[in-house]
Order: sequence, then structure tokens, then C-alpha cells
Amino acid sequence: MSAARYAVFGQPIAHSQSPHIHAAFARAQGIALDYRAIEASPQEFAAALEAFAAEGGVGANVTLPHKEAAFALCATTTSRAHRAGAVNTLLRKGDGWHGDNTDGIGLVRDLTGRHGLDLRGRRVLLLGAGGAARGIAPALLDAGILELVVANRSPARADALVDAMAEPGRAISAYWEDLREQGDFELVINATSAGRDKDAAFQLPLSLVNSLTTAVDLNYGGAAIAFLAWARAAGCRNSFDGLGMLVEQAAESFRLWHGVRPDTDAVYAELRERASTLVTAD
Ligand code: ATR
Repeated sequence: MSAARYAVFGQPIAHSQSPHIHAAFARAQGIALDYRAIEASPQEFAAALEAFAAEGGVGANVTLPHKEAAFALCATTTSRAHRAGAVNTLLRKGDGWHGDNTDGIGLVRDLTGRHGLDLRGRRVLLLGAGGAARGIAPALLDAGILELVVANRSPARADALVDAMAEPGRAISAYWEDLREQGDFELVINATSAGRDKDAAFQLPLSLVNSLTTAVDLNYGGAAIAFLAWARAAGCRNSFDGLGMLVEQAAESFRLWHGVRPDTDAVYAELRERASTLVTAD
């Protein structure tokens, strides 16, 4: 019997680590897997996904720039995907796609499991309100944080994200220029794509940081350098890139497809060793 077919869709997709990560999980679990990377432009995405299903594709990951488009194409979604308005995991059910979003639970698992943080009762600052920010906001609220403050360069997008969370008082937006007035946070998350610019630098108020603050960049490799440099200079207690989240979101997708959650430590250690060469892509 030939292996079940899976894929990751994105543009660009050449740097995606997902085929490598899923192949490693499958090997460790003794599962035969055919998982490939498929490049598709926004115009091509819907047709490419249909062609994949017609050829026997049963599951897919979706990355930039297709997460919102994938959500719109789903026949059914999980409630966390619905709140995010974005999908990173697809499962074929009958004639349609069922969509989930494992980015947020991936981040929470990395922070609580790998790094031993307790998120309950914490004030969290989320920088950015694009697809990446929307993917993680529901899971942070579900993890029991006290308050989620969302700041974005264009304020209307922060307001829209906060409205979608439907937790008035617990999820609130703030103007980027007014961050100095927001007090301090135990968790500061960079979900912007600003660090992908070669000359990026973060100038955020030092007043955001207290002696417990953890800073997390959802990016990894070169795109995480600027924010993590700010975090260290500001005196954050811990600073992490998005590599752990990358591996954990993949493990949650793997569980949805195969019914078993793979151990993530070996793949994480291997990616960590070559982290400086990786390009944020998944
Ligand atoms: P992603 O899926 O990675 O979130 P996106 O939806 O294009 O990509 O969102 C990019 C995010 O990075 C947005 O929050 C964007 O802010 P705007 O909504 O104001 O565009 C943010 N961003 C990009 N470049 C930035 C910069 N130089 N400074 C601050 N925020 C930036």
C-alpha cells in the first residue's frame, strides 16, 4: 500500500522545515508518510488544494500567505480556528476540508512544557495583529492569562483582532505610541514581521519589562534577531525564538492526522543546532 499523502502549501515554500519535521515524526512512530512542499500563489491556492485532494491528499499544512484563504475554503473548522479566522492544518473529511489552527497551542506547549512557564494570571503584550497574531491569541486566552493587550502599527487591525476574541476587558487594544502607559508585562510576544527587514531594530519602552518578563519572537533564524536583541538589552529574564512553537504546532497537526502525539525533543534539538541557518517560513 502506498503511503498516505500530506503536504504543506505556501509561497515561498522552499525554506519550509515542515516536510523534514513530519518525516522525522513519522519515522519515529513507524508510520509511512508521503509529505511534500507545494508552492502556490494566492491565485493558484484553491485549485492546487483541490488537485491535491483529487490525487488522494488527506491532510495539509498551510503557511504564508494562505492561512486566511484556507479558513474560507473549509467546510468545517474547530472553534479555535474560527476565532483565529485562520487555518494552518487541513484534514480531508468526505468531500470537504476540516480546518484547525495549531499555532496557538504550539506556542503554549512550548512556553509551558519546554520552558516551564506558568501563563495563568499573567499580563501579556502581543505586538502585531496579522495572521500570526490572530493564530495565537485564542490559545493564550484559553491558557488562563489575566489580560491580553494587543498593539499594532495600524490600530484598526488590533481593534479587529480584539473584537474577534470577544472577551471585553480581558483582551484589549493599545496604541503602539502609548505603550509607555501600559505598565509592565510578564510576557511580550513579537508577532510582527518587522524583523524580516534586513535593517530592523526594535525601540520599545523599557517600562514594559519587569524582573519576570519573558520575551518571545514567533519568528526564528535571522528574522528573530532584532527583537531578541531588544529583549536582552531591556533586561528580560528569558528570551525565546519561535523554533519551539514551530515543532510543537507540527506535533499537534501530526496528532490530528495520525492520532498520536510524537515526541518533539529530538527534532527540536536538531533544528536548534542549525537555527542560525533557518529562514522563518512555516
Ligand atoms: P503574518 O501572517 O506574519 O502576521 P501579516 O498578516 O502580513 O503577516 O502581518 C504582519 C504584521 O507585522 C502586522 O501586524 C504588521 O503591522 P500592520 O498591520 O500595521 O501592517 C506588522 N508589521 C510589519 N512590519 C512592521 C514594522 N516595520 N513595524 C511594526 N509592525 C510591522
